[in-house]
Amino acid sequence: MNFNDTEIVASIMKNSGWEIVATPEEATAVLLNTCSVRENAESRVIRRLKQYNHKFKKLNKRYIIGIIGCMAERFNQHLVDLENSVNVVIGPDEYRRMPALLDQALSGNKAVAVELSTVETYDDIIPLRTEGISAWLSIMRGCNNFCSYCVVPYTRGRERSRPMQSLIEETRQLFHKGFREVTLLGQNVNSYKDEETGSTFDILISKIAEISPLLRIRFTTSHPRDMNDNLIQTIAQYPNICKHIHLPVQSGSNRILKKMNRRYTVEHYLSIIDKIKSTIPNSAITTDIIAGYPSETEEDHQQTLELLKQVRFSGAFMFKYSPREGTRAFDEPDDVPEETKIRRLNEIINLQNSISKELNQLEKGRVLEVLVEAPSKKKQQEWMGRSSSNKVVIFPNPQGIYKTGDYVDVLIKKSTSATLFGEVVEKK
Ligand code: 5AD
Ligand code: SF4
Repeated sequence: MNFNDTEIVASIMKNSGWEIVATPEEATAVLLNTCSVRENAESRVIRRLKQYNHKFKKLNKRYIIGIIGCMAERFNQHLVDLENSVNVVIGPDEYRRMPALLDQALSGNKAVAVELSTVETYDDIIPLRTEGISAWLSIMRGCNNFCSYCVVPYTRGRERSRPMQSLIEETRQLFHKGFREVTLLGQNVNSYKDEETGSTFDILISKIAEISPLLRIRFTTSHPRDMNDNLIQTIAQYPNICKHIHLPVQSGSNRILKKMNRRYTVEHYLSIIDKIKSTIPNSAITTDIIAGYPSETEEDHQQTLELLKQVRFSGAFMFKYSPREGTRAFDEPDDVPEETKIRRLNEIINLQNSISKELNQLEKGRVLEVLVEAPSKKKQQEWMGRSSSNKVVIFPNPQGIYKTGDYVDVLIKKSTSATLFGEVVEKK
């Protein structure tokens, strides 16, 4: 979502006469778009700030440093007081004012703007997308879920959806410009709602899928509580809606899920997984897990491991619980010792990696449709693309026959826990 927000900011700045340069050395101003979801994301920004201060500001007093995004929202005026090098602080709903605020900074005054809005969706701003064949498209902003550990509802405000018609129009233009994949983004895409027609997410995604069979559609993130049969049916029905569902479960313990305010049980989650597996064969399901939530016992942790074994996710983002000021969980003692959190997280990661590896081994001998992206990082003669299930597939392309944006069928010959390797058997 921050990638897409950065493209929106770039578009706003460009339209008011600013130019994007290749390196911070050449710049008048540098803006850091930030995430607050865990403490280490914020510590990285603080480290980067100190670097920029040292490298650029010390040499040029007029160099402008701006913090935008969730950290701006969370720290507000304090960021300017805390880090003297910061000139502008702009929250996620204030990007339209960015050119004026930068002018203010240029004239020597610090600028802070962190009002949240209940309506801003930047609907009329075409993000400045620069490269590739895949585009991000934010279909909604904010979140109303208030999971106990999560800072997002406080930094990004209330949930609001972009109008369906303009999303369809923007996607149509993307396709005509040569994009072949669009990822619909929202904190909780299942609660998308078009104000004008009352259309829900399954309707939106089917209309976008109908733009062209050559356009792949992805989406993230789904919330298990709002995942419904209509959506599962729609994904099954359209070949160009990718067979990959990211469905964060967070924990395998009902007691912890309740404390997290996730509003579903393990049993309910498993019933959705069953429906997905029976309706969409060969689909990939991925998840998010938090290890060491306050009061998590060894038994709770074992239940999370059990759930991983039962579902057999193709992949997972796995995190250590990080207390965030202002959230409900922050009021609870962060009582799982650091070594225990790390040990539990490692057990989760090791188990998940072995499951991913086993699932990838099953792909050997299968033929997967791959959208060709770019040369692989390691070898010049090899290219990479992704399967519908979002797996990275590497294949030889010595004469450069296969171009970015082509669809090819690849016979899988080898695999690791993260990557599949094969040979093209047919170009479409
Ligand atoms: N600590 C650790 N992980 C968190 N996430 C959100 N908030 C926290 C936190 N305070 C994780 C959740 C979410 C993902 C985007 O980040 O797993 O699904
Ligand atoms: Fe955070 Fe929960 Fe909203 Fe996801 S659904 S952004 S975890 S509050």
